[in-house]
Amino acid sequence: MTEAILLVGGQGTRLRPVTVNTPKPMVPAAGVPFLAHQIARAVAAGVDRVVLATCYLAEVFEPYFGDGSAYGITLEYVVEDEPLGTGGAIRNAAGRLSCGPDEPVLVFNGDILTGLDIRGLVATHRRADADVTLHLAQVDDPRAFGLVPTDADGRVTAFTEKPQAPEEIVTDQINAGAYVFRRSVIDMIPAGRAVSVERETFPGLLAEGARLHGKVENTYWLDLGRPEAFVRASADLVRGVVHSPAVPGRRGEVLVLPGAQVAEGAKLADGTVVGAGARIGAGAVVQGSVVLDGAVVGADAYVHDSLIGAGASVGSRARVCDAVIGDGARVGADNELRAGVRVWCGAELPDAALRFSSDRS
Ligand code: GTP
Repeated sequence: MTEAILLVGGQGTRLRPVTVNTPKPMVPAAGVPFLAHQIARAVAAGVDRVVLATCYLAEVFEPYFGDGSAYGITLEYVVEDEPLGTGGAIRNAAGRLSCGPDEPVLVFNGDILTGLDIRGLVATHRRADADVTLHLAQVDDPRAFGLVPTDADGRVTAFTEKPQAPEEIVTDQINAGAYVFRRSVIDMIPAGRAVSVERETFPGLLAEGARLHGKVENTYWLDLGRPEAFVRASADLVRGVVHSPAVPGRRGEVLVLPGAQVAEGAKLADGTVVGAGARIGAGAVVQGSVVLDGAVVGADAYVHDSLIGAGASVGSRARVCDAVIGDGARVGADNELRAGVRVWCGAELPDAALRFSSDRS
């Protein structure tokens, strides 16, 4: 049996207002909650028991995923009354594991989309006889991540969270949010209090001389923490840039879910997904975007690299680029929204209220 813990209890503050009503792992990407892609990928790699470590809006997971039988696995849920942090959450979930002390347990952050070879990570862990094995990705700008330098044998030599000083940036290898733990290591994390696996557990293990192994695998990797990354991930799933068995329907340039209405003459492109009951008006152009269930995009509107929340509306001729429109918000006609703007859930923007440019063309 291969067991995994999925960390899905964070507040998703960087993704607000998308995460005001919905925890980040339940926000639909390519037509299904993002978590469905992670579960499907884990199942495809032979995982047959998953423990979901929930906290923020914990009650919404089980009604959707049930006991896991639809995926051919066993799904367990643990709920934290108070956020326990990433390490505390792993420790709290350990009570639901059934494997022995030396067995490998997979742990995944719930907001990473990756083409990682999960079986390969477990095989590396076994070969290295490691206490913990971490997937490491190489990125151009590692400042927003945790740096994990390794020696020639792949042994981790340090952990530096979110380095700022140039002398701290000693490698381009970052903690990619997928781990294999020796079960007994999880049981040693202190119980009943908040623990950060990145800031406390890993540096502590290193100081004690534990065997921490890093596996660099340069595959598709995206942290969905910020809106622009979430929107890109959804488009990449739709287009098959990264494969997920959970994408409903065939891969293609766009995904229109059953019950959506797309007017004749509307143009969808670049991995756009249109949710159930959503409506796209005549002459509208929607590129690289996520239009959630029941949302409306008016006639001749232009929507680009944006997320339109459930039941939200974008008025006629409005231009919405690199923007997030919260659930149920109303953006009136002829507005121009750009550059990372976030319209809160339920907000109402009158017609022609906001422009970035000085004319109306
Ligand atoms: P931000 O608030 O935008 O930073 O997002 P986040 O809440 O998801 O935090 P972060 O990206 O650092 O979390 C990494 C992973 O750990 C995510 O999958 C979170 O859901 C999860 N996570 C973070 N804190 C907790 C916690 O206290 N409990 C549980 N169960 N999961 C957590």
